[in-house]
Amino acid sequence: MEVTNVTEYQAIAKEKLPKMVYDYYASGAEDQWTLEENRNAFSRILFRPRILIDVSKIDMTTTILGFKISMPIMLAPTAMQKMAHPEGEYATARAASSAGTIMTLSSWATSSVEEVASTGPGIRFFQLYVYKDRNVVAQLVRRAERAGFKAIALTVDTPRLGRREADIKNRFTLPPFLTLKNFEGLDLGKMDEANDSGLASYVAGQIDRTLSWKDVKWLQTITTMPILVKGVITAEDTRLAIQAGAAGIIVSNHGARQLDYVPATIMALEEVVKAAQGRVPVFLDGGVRRGTDVFKALALGASGIFIGRPVVFSLAAEGEAGVRKVLQMLRDEFELTMALSGCTSLSEITRDHIVTEWDAPRARPGPRL
Ligand code: FNR
Repeated sequence: MEVTNVTEYQAIAKEKLPKMVYDYYASGAEDQWTLEENRNAFSRILFRPRILIDVSKIDMTTTILGFKISMPIMLAPTAMQKMAHPEGEYATARAASSAGTIMTLSSWATSSVEEVASTGPGIRFFQLYVYKDRNVVAQLVRRAERAGFKAIALTVDTPRLGRREADIKNRFTLPPFLTLKNFEGLDLGKMDEANDSGLASYVAGQIDRTLSWKDVKWLQTITTMPILVKGVITAEDTRLAIQAGAAGIIVSNHGARQLDYVPATIMALEEVVKAAQGRVPVFLDGGVRRGTDVFKALALGASGIFIGRPVVFSLAAEGEAGVRKVLQMLRDEFELTMALSGCTSLSEITRDHIVTEWDAPRARPGPRL
């Protein structure tokens, strides 16, 4: 049957993938309250469309950190994509390039920064997990820079791995025929089996829990790439990130895989946007599955959004063609949303095009006379 929206790929992926892999991709932390809320919160934001505006031409292009892209829809880092499809990150990189948008490569990719760069031209960011061994980090950042990556997305919400119970039950580990390719030569490319989640043990062993704001400054001494801080959901941390030299902020709760019962990212977005005061761009990821979601995020002040699970699910279903189709469907839906809201360019999308439950009622019923 024809796939007509992004969400449909999830059920196809579930049928195709081994249970351990599907569960790793799909799961959130603990009660998975935030996982549901990431989606549900979008449905509580409604439109205030404007009519009788010439929408015969619609421009969705935008510029992110100086790079022009075709639409404000980008690819979030998701680890271990070769578990979804043999071409893994190669397929994702090609699909992103052909859509004219940015791919973020995970530190824990099953293809290296050099391999992804070899797929051809494309604007790519590198997501960084900071290992205890800072030489490993410095080397990796240098390799990403040399391979032509344009920015670092520094993930700051993972001093320890969130408790993903499906991974514990499944004793999740990287299949033996795959490695975390960026770390292969460093003896850190394999994940041992553990009597809970192999990934949680790997994180406990390798990832630096001491990571703090001073390390954001340290990172700037080892690279000239701009740094996006990924995983901010409060005004306080927005101000600290800007003080620490961040070039941008990604409002993210890690796809609800870290701390459960944090708000949906779309609920946290406006607080962050206000605190940023236009000094740096603010992006969002988490639960974006429709063009209407993209529009709502932009109306609340985001400069763009990133998608995570739709990439791995469509990759599992149809490889590169699947990821292309996801990007095309979101693009088409977003364009239609703009047209039906009366917006012909991204700068025309305003806060007045939506109404949220935290807005004051615009028209109160008057007293009965
Ligand atoms: C992720 N995410 C993630 N984030 C990160 O900084 N480094 C990583 O390696 C990964 N890996 C990863 C794997 C899988 C399977 C998922 C689902 C997520 C989080 C990701 O970048 C992003 O924040 C969320 O996926 C966005 O939410 P949606 O679009 O999946 O709802």
